[in-house]
Amino acid sequence: MKPPKPEARPKQVSLWRYWKLFRQDILSAQPPHLYRAKMAEFRTPWFRSFLVNELELVRKVLIDMPEVFPKSDRVTRGLRPLLGQSVFVTNGKAWTQQRRIIDPAFEGGRVKESFPPMLAAAEDAADRIGPGVLDIEAMASHATADIIFRALFSRTIEDAVAQETYAAFRAFQRVQPVATMAALVPWWPVRHARPARRAAARLRDLISQLVADRQGEIAKGTAPPDLATKIMTTKDPETGRAFSKTEMVDQVAIFFLAGHETSASLLGWALWCLAAAPDWGAQVAEEAGVFCANPGFAGLSGLKVTRNVVRETLRLYPPVPMFVREAKIEQSFRGRRVQKGAQIVVSPWHLGRHETLWDSPDHFDPARWDHRSPPREAWLPFSAGPRVCPGAGFAMAEAVVLLAVLMSRFKFETLEPPMPVAHLTVRAKDGIRLRVTPRQASSRF
Ligand code: HEM
Repeated sequence: MKPPKPEARPKQVSLWRYWKLFRQDILSAQPPHLYRAKMAEFRTPWFRSFLVNELELVRKVLIDMPEVFPKSDRVTRGLRPLLGQSVFVTNGKAWTQQRRIIDPAFEGGRVKESFPPMLAAAEDAADRIGPGVLDIEAMASHATADIIFRALFSRTIEDAVAQETYAAFRAFQRVQPVATMAALVPWWPVRHARPARRAAARLRDLISQLVADRQGEIAKGTAPPDLATKIMTTKDPETGRAFSKTEMVDQVAIFFLAGHETSASLLGWALWCLAAAPDWGAQVAEEAGVFCANPGFAGLSGLKVTRNVVRETLRLYPPVPMFVREAKIEQSFRGRRVQKGAQIVVSPWHLGRHETLWDSPDHFDPARWDHRSPPREAWLPFSAGPRVCPGAGFAMAEAVVLLAVLMSRFKFETLEPPMPVAHLTVRAKDGIRLRVTPRQASSRF
């Protein structure tokens, strides 16, 4: 099965055209030769930008020299009113300290503690689905928002504050484009339209309320042992400081955003891939049936095909298609001068479909994960190095559980092929619509 790749574009793209495409569809804005190139340089009158596909360069930028290539704030500027000084946007000392507090909440056995809320939310999502044509992206966003609320604050999406927070997130996403002119032109003023500022402020008020309630529960000793309690009671081992209330609001904002938009994108594309490759759908449904007959954390290791489907979907449709670093000092890449201030683009989208890194790169083939592990830097849906996604283990478990529960209960069939575009994450231009048929209890597989 060959999933759709964005339509080829001419090699030379003017800045104006690039910007228009970037706003509408940053994936199609990329010329086709980038799926073969080791590196590409984009010149604008204001700055240089380098896309790095050579694995040694990717390693240098993300793993070996992260202090020389800190996160560029150009792309995250639009999200500042919502994210404040959260771990997603900071650099240097502030970022190191934040990760020292956040990382323990996601370490080792803690994914196991989030398994019961993941399973309960997946079963509730399946209960909400009826036969007919389904808007998969909306279903996926609802399900993954439910999981993040349950895991962080032990509240379901049915809870009034959770529902309002979810609605406010959707309102913010509608009014704040992720790509703005300020992301491309250094001196362009960063403006946040009033609706975006208002939506972000409303959202932060709601999150403040959740954080204040939890502070009260922690003080009374009645707080549930979830991710929010863990993060709010962890002290930085080096300074002994815990997050202040405002700092916690910043972090919760990014957990909601990074933790449900990405997972929703992954679930939507995984279901589409399985619908388009019914043989793989049948294999997943079969092992999912065994898991769902007696679901438990230990059973996750038996979901081998499902896990490979998740890996393969992340290769073809990485929810975060590209991320950007900035060269703090002059460097040389493949003999070319990389000036101080140059923007370095690492692209899981191009790496995952790169013609020199994968056999049949455009084909959905979960079996490729049985035979070999690719070089670490060729599969980068969660990034790598010190800024690797702290929620990667959580997200993998969540995707496997959601897919298993949904595939055990329903058969999904394709209608029109979706066209991938980059919004906050990789989504389908006109949504993903699939036909859903419940599997009969007696003949589910
Ligand atoms: C399929 C799901 C997910 C994908 C593909 C994903 C991917 C990523 C990527 C690529 C980054 C690095 C971005 C950059 O460097 O610019 C990142 C960062 C981050 N992710 Fe995830 N993520 C996922 C789920 C989650 C979940 C479930 C959580 C939390 C519950 C989470 C929390 C974060 C945070 C806090 C950061 C910022 C880390 C830092 O900058 O130090 N993510 N994620």
